[in-house]
Amino acid sequence: MNHEINVQSESVQDYSDLNEEAQELIKAAIEAREFAYVPYSNFKVGSAIRVADGSIIGGCNIENSAYSPTICAERTAACKAISTGNNEFKAVAVIGLQEKSFTTPCGVCRQFLSEFAKEDIPVYVTKPEPERVLVTSLSRLLPHSFNLN
Ligand code: THU
Repeated sequence: MNHEINVQSESVQDYSDLNEEAQELIKAAIEAREFAYVPYSNFKVGSAIRVADGSIIGGCNIENSAYSPTICAERTAACKAISTGNNEFKAVAVIGLQEKSFTTPCGVCRQFLSEFAKEDIPVYVTKPEPERVLVTSLSRLLPHSFNLN
């Protein structure tokens, strides 16, 4: 991601007020979440990434009995995208069912995603039955991400 400081504003919006593209991305993340493999935490997460050609690639979290090999939904989606030739991300959605908070991407996922965002990109975070949506951005979630360039 471009390292000039460009922290976008953040808001909580009604799903029904979002544009069609954002709603479509959220729906794809909700669908991907259904495939989550979570025998240890029982906490399903879904993610979807809009890539440069406009298509959407989804992913879910995949846990492992050795725990540390577990991969988050966001990185599953990102790896699917990159390994199919889609290395420019335009928007991300994340879905988790937490009562009191939004399931925002973990620190590792923030850094991983930032590698493939040329500029700041929107991040939509909501629940499987989306009502209120946290509309934030990658640079807001991870200002000063590490970048070797
Ligand atoms: N998890 C994600 O998939 N994405 C996040 O943003 C946060 C955490 C997963 C990892 C693990 O399978 C489960 O949620 C509980 O930490």
